[in-house]
Amino acid sequence: MDKIGFIGLGIMGRPMAKNLIKAGYAVVVCDVNQQAVEELRACGAESAATPAETAEKAGTFIVTMLPNSPQVREVTAGENGLLKGIRAGQIVVDMSSISPIASRELDALLREKGAEMLDAPVSGGQEKAEQGTLAIMVGGSAAAFEKARPILEKMGATVTLVGESGAGQITKLVNQMIVGINISAVAEGMAFAKKAGVEPRRVFEAIRKGLAGSQCLEDKAPRMFEGRYDPGFRINLHIKDLWNVLETSRAVSCSVPLSGQVIEMMIALANEGHETKDHGSLGLYYEKLNNVALKEIQK
Ligand SMILES: NC(=O)c1ccc[n+]([C@@H]2O[C@H](COP(=O)([O-])OP(=O)(O)OC[C@H]3O[C@@H](n4cnc5c(N)ncnc54)[C@H](O)[C@@H]3O)[C@@H](O)[C@H]2O)c1
Repeated sequence: MDKIGFIGLGIMGRPMAKNLIKAGYAVVVCDVNQQAVEELRACGAESAATPAETAEKAGTFIVTMLPNSPQVREVTAGENGLLKGIRAGQIVVDMSSISPIASRELDALLREKGAEMLDAPVSGGQEKAEQGTLAIMVGGSAAAFEKARPILEKMGATVTLVGESGAGQITKLVNQMIVGINISAVAEGMAFAKKAGVEPRRVFEAIRKGLAGSQCLEDKAPRMFEGRYDPGFRINLHIKDLWNVLETSRAVSCSVPLSGQVIEMMIALANEGHETKDHGSLGLYYEKLNNVALKEIQK
């Protein structure tokens, strides 16, 4: 089977690379964190010192799973970046959540070398990465997508081609907008109930099967009632995604007032030291704003 390059062995990348090894692929890994590289070597991976060397050693595919646009730019177009070692026909599958503007620029640079990029960000956290059940939303050419599909299916339960280059990242940003706004709505409604003298959990039970019901309500309201804000999905990652929403919305002249409000609340939470807590800690924001406790007193 084709040898797959894999760059970025963090919380998500590590289990994703391990799933490729488990599926029988040869994998060549690269990360600035040598400990992560050693962990993958112990699972049977080969290693490369730089992204350029990763491209040289890999077959058709190089997967990247990095924090944000600057790191993907560095790994792709920086000194010793992928572009230095890439061959015509190779496909970079960038599974990081980054700006779609950056994705499109990097795809254009790769195309000058006869290669191309699929932007393939994921929804689902560490647990789904470990289970290989991520939701993967893809932008790029249909031909590259069909070639990459078998690999993506080893990491995800749903793999969807949404459109041309950048479409995967746009889809991920839409997901993050809707989730952030939805969690804020849950927190605002529950704080309002409490302040108005009605027990939030009773409100939750009364409305959860109606139109206000949502996965966010189901997942986050009980966490607020229990004061449980361990991640989950971290506030600092959600802030990063909403910055990418604002950058893109300005580029296409789209007004996104609710996303603007949510990022302000999340920045305030981060400034109070909650940046590595779950994004459900928007509940804490509303608790402070209104001097109410959403957390129930344990009897
Ligand atoms: N953690 C989640 O729950 C989650 C869920 C969905 C999507 N995502 C997205 O997936 C991406 C990765 O998230 P994560 O939680 O695994 O991040 P992470 O910070 O845990 O991992 C990033 C990895 O990239 C490596 N890295 C950084 N710069 C590098 C460089 N120049 N060269 C080589 N390696 C480099 C780091 O050493 C690290 O191992 C992010 O874009 C994030 O938004 C995360």
